[in-house]
Amino acid sequence: MKAIFQTMGCVLALAAATAGWAQAVPDANRLPPSQDASRRANGLAMTPPMGWNSWNKLGCNIDEAKVRAVADAMAGNGMKAAGYGYVVIDDCWHGTRDADGVISADPVRFPSGIRALSDYVHARGLKFGIYSDAGAKTCGGRPGSQGHEYQDAITYARWGVDYLKYDWCSTGTRNAEEAYALMSDALRATGRPILFSLCEWGTSRPWEWAATIGNMWRTTGDITDKWDGQHGHSHGVLPIVDANERLWPYAGPGHWNDPDMLEVGNGGLTDSEARAHFSLWAMMAAPLIAGNDVTTMSEATRAILLNPEVIAIDQDVLGVQGHRIRKDGDREVWSKPLADGGRAVLLFNRGNAPATIAVDWTELGYPASLKARVRDLWARRDLARARGRQAATVPAHGVVMLRISA
Ligand code: GLA
Repeated sequence: MKAIFQTMGCVLALAAATAGWAQAVPDANRLPPSQDASRRANGLAMTPPMGWNSWNKLGCNIDEAKVRAVADAMAGNGMKAAGYGYVVIDDCWHGTRDADGVISADPVRFPSGIRALSDYVHARGLKFGIYSDAGAKTCGGRPGSQGHEYQDAITYARWGVDYLKYDWCSTGTRNAEEAYALMSDALRATGRPILFSLCEWGTSRPWEWAATIGNMWRTTGDITDKWDGQHGHSHGVLPIVDANERLWPYAGPGHWNDPDMLEVGNGGLTDSEARAHFSLWAMMAAPLIAGNDVTTMSEATRAILLNPEVIAIDQDVLGVQGHRIRKDGDREVWSKPLADGGRAVLLFNRGNAPATIAVDWTELGYPASLKARVRDLWARRDLARARGRQAATVPAHGVVMLRISA
């Protein structure tokens, strides 16, 4: 009898200890997806994604001929060689779901089907991207993927899709982290490497949870082709820059803050503003997704989008998002550390008149005594070696972009 009591006591003590242990270690089934220790990033986008997307220029006015023309242009006009690898069709490619729920393309706009279009893009050495939405409908009112996540992911993989932009319209009370993790898992389950671009506008702070779920996340509402201000639901370049800049600690290889697609070449910015827009995106290690008509680019637009030295700052393998280190009214200094120990420096003038802006080496973490090499990335020339600091006259609504090395 004594032995039985002893054994029972032991069992009870063990049960109590187990219960205590169970309380201390979180239940894996109750964790939000991002805190599941077994979740791994997909290994894509070790530098910020580059490509073209149909939305900024074409909106819903897309068809297969236009997308083919873009792929032809990118393969031949230097964009592909400069790193613009993805051709992405945004909203409004969709037709209907069939009786089994399988999505198809709009048969009038895409009569050859998406697989043929993706083959065409791949044949030009480019990758192919598509768009869907976590809700019942896309922002353009087309069928969304809610309730069809795995089915759509399989369809995209069969079509040869390499990139999915996933929007957030018509999602009601849906939980964003859950919804994006579900599609992330569905894409992963196909076995095809598919870059995952979250387009949730920053509403539920995806920078805090999306690093192992997606490769880039929008941090703001939509951009519009203007320098400043809010325009309906869209924003000019400056408010987008200010919202995205402060999130710099969250970006890194495989997971990037996305301040939305480029408006360079769409006509609403002066050349100086467009250079500033592109430079700021490069400083912020932002995805460089051109949004203009790349089949008829002006020389000025071409010189901006294809500047290899500015692109190299964006694509630097250290993968640190640059940020503002000083602000004196309209005059700002930005810095981005580079893999070779150097710095990209942006002297940024928001004002309406040219201004002199200087950077001190000590602000960059260099000794004042250093006689550094300085290269002007828009003039594309080396300046004289400089000790302690570098000053420049910066045009109105413009930048001077430098690469400083010891
Ligand atoms: C949202 C997105 C845009 C674009 C449109 C398409 O507004 O933020 O980037 O994809 O939907 O309808």
